[in-house]
Amino acid sequence: MATTFEPDTRPMIPDDIARIVVSPKSYTNDEVVYGAFKWLRENMPLGVAEVPGYDPLWIVTKHADIREVEKNAKLFHNADHNPVLNDQASDAFTREINNGSLRILSSLTYMDPPEHGSFRSVTSNWFLPGKISKLEDQVRVLARQSVENLLSFDGECDFVKDFALHYPLRVIMTLFGVPPEDEPRMLKLTQEFFGVHDPEEQRPEIAADPVVGAKMWAATLEDFYGYFDKLSAARREQPNDDLLSLIANSRVNGLPIPRAEANGYYVAIATAGHDTTSSSTAGGLHGMLLYPENWDKVKADPAMIPKLVDEAIRWTAPVKHFMRNATEDTELRGQTIRAMDRLMICYPSGCRDEEVFADADRFDITRSPNQHIAFGFGPHMCLGQHLAKLEMRVLYEELLPHLKSVELAGEPRLVETNFVGGYKSLPIRFTKN
Ligand code: HEM
Repeated sequence: MATTFEPDTRPMIPDDIARIVVSPKSYTNDEVVYGAFKWLRENMPLGVAEVPGYDPLWIVTKHADIREVEKNAKLFHNADHNPVLNDQASDAFTREINNGSLRILSSLTYMDPPEHGSFRSVTSNWFLPGKISKLEDQVRVLARQSVENLLSFDGECDFVKDFALHYPLRVIMTLFGVPPEDEPRMLKLTQEFFGVHDPEEQRPEIAADPVVGAKMWAATLEDFYGYFDKLSAARREQPNDDLLSLIANSRVNGLPIPRAEANGYYVAIATAGHDTTSSSTAGGLHGMLLYPENWDKVKADPAMIPKLVDEAIRWTAPVKHFMRNATEDTELRGQTIRAMDRLMICYPSGCRDEEVFADADRFDITRSPNQHIAFGFGPHMCLGQHLAKLEMRVLYEELLPHLKSVELAGEPRLVETNFVGGYKSLPIRFTKN
């Protein structure tokens, strides 16, 4: 019997645009990457990218489509493939060293319902806004220390390296119960974890390897696990009221949390909990330097700081993507998505969708409402969003009254990553009040 093939009617994204969206390097240049997203939203809001070395991917660029995909966690799974985009060689290497599985990290991101709900509920209460607001005094002490340190620079510093990188790390490690002397190690591991494609973050012994992404993750995870195994054992023996004790002593479906899932939790919180926040904090300042009317407004009325925080997160969108996998044939924006098709959810694009945000490239703290999608949507929506917003608000509240003027003292630099990243350097000159 003759086989008949249906003609391929999927909208295929032009090669140059597809490469920009997939390549970690493009994300070092905002103009390039946001330009590609704008072209896609206007011309091919849901199209297929075929880039050599990668699986074919649907690129989801519209705010409404991101919400649609993310709210439907049964139809669009995280865990049937890699929830993070890697090239095929890296995925093959991960399978090779991980008993055929791509689940190299047993964190929430790698889970689907009902497993996801069982594990998320271990900490979901702890992260509720009412609980997080009780941490304000503790967080403010750390913010003050950080601001004092910034002010000790003689009018010139790197806002990222000398300031924004350290404070969110201090906050999350304090809440976690990680001793301050171990923070440099945590910072280095996180930078390696999220900067796998950035030559400045790579381990020299792996840098030239064709599967550098997967190898960096495997090596970094091993170090994280070694560290957290010890801390976890200590908290089981002697629990206190920190977040690590809560996870280490939790029970899921009636059983003690397994080692892999406990470690998955620690790594997710230890990594997601600060790089994102420090990038958004730096992005907020950069946005005000490029659009100075915002600086004047927030200096005149500090009650605008929460709006500054939201706009900083929208404009920076430090999480560049997560992946989903269709579990059955379905339709989205008039296109047929087949079971097992992969979708790349592009948060920075959704955050600049002109259908939702007027003059979307503009940094504007007066946006109202500001329904950005930088924290995702649906059951996987960022667990730490209220903590991130509290940290940023408190930091700006402590910092801005001390600064009379700020200007750029060099070119800002962004991390080479298509996953989590943003500012690597933001040189500034400032005068104090
Ligand atoms: C998940 C963004 C800060 C912990 C996510 C996701 C995004 C995101 C886009 C995926 C959502 C989805 O799949 O729908 C951000 C941004 C932050 C930030 C923009 C700061 C500005 C934090 C902080 C923590 C944190 C401070 C922890 C203290 C997590 C965890 C997940 C997550 C554990 C996985 C949730 C799940 O899969 O159920 N975040 N995040 N994040 N975030 Fe954040």
